[in-house]
Amino acid sequence: MNSSLVSSIVFFCLLIVSVRSADVLSDSCGEAAKDDPNIKFDFCVSTLEGNPKAKSATGVADLVKVAIETAISNSSSIGSLITKLLSDKGLEPYVRSCLQDCSELYSDAGSNLGKGEQAFEGKDYGTANSVISAAMDSSSTCEDQFKEKKGVVSPLTKENNSFFQLNAISLAFINMVQK
Ligand SMILES: *[C@@H]1O[C@H](CO)[C@@H](O)[C@H](O)[C@H]1NC(C)=O
Ligand SMILES: *[C@@H]1O[C@H](CO)[C@@H](O)[C@H](O)[C@H]1NC(C)=O
Repeated sequence: MNSSLVSSIVFFCLLIVSVRSADVLSDSCGEAAKDDPNIKFDFCVSTLEGNPKAKSATGVADLVKVAIETAISNSSSIGSLITKLLSDKGLEPYVRSCLQDCSELYSDAGSNLGKGEQAFEGKDYGTANSVISAAMDSSSTCEDQFKEKKGVVSPLTKENNSFFQLNAISLAFINMVQK
């Protein structure tokens, strides 16, 4: 075989591999979005495709890990954001106490997600499901606190929306792995 033929073959094989893994992500996001109204297809694809492991995913199980790891790093950046918000000396005491709770909630969520990833790797899907659901509840609990007092606006609504959705994606993917 001449070398240009070999390189064409290699090129086409690589092309097929990359097309296939793009399919894994968009197929999985499509299925997740179809089954759960909380999941938006575009959010799912755009959030996960940035991770190189999503590009090389050969099945939805690989994407579960990507989704959980994305949520873990999200929980820690939300934690840093809360620390920054708390440094404002002029905060209303009610908002300050909500933010302090939220800081703990997102930190607990991060450790639950770590447990969820381990459980998933051990194929203990029941535990993975319940700890990831708990992480999801943490962001809602945080958000709810701000709603309890009239006139108070949560500074973390956007964070709840993305964190909540990321966890919904992990749960949907775990569900698909079991099918
Ligand atoms: C959390 O993740 C979402 C989706 O990737 C992103 O839009 C948001 O900015 C992240 N939040 C933080 C605080 O990093
Ligand atoms: C958190 O975000 C999710 C997803 O957007 C939303 O369904 C949920 O109601 C929010 N939680 C609260 C308490 O607002």
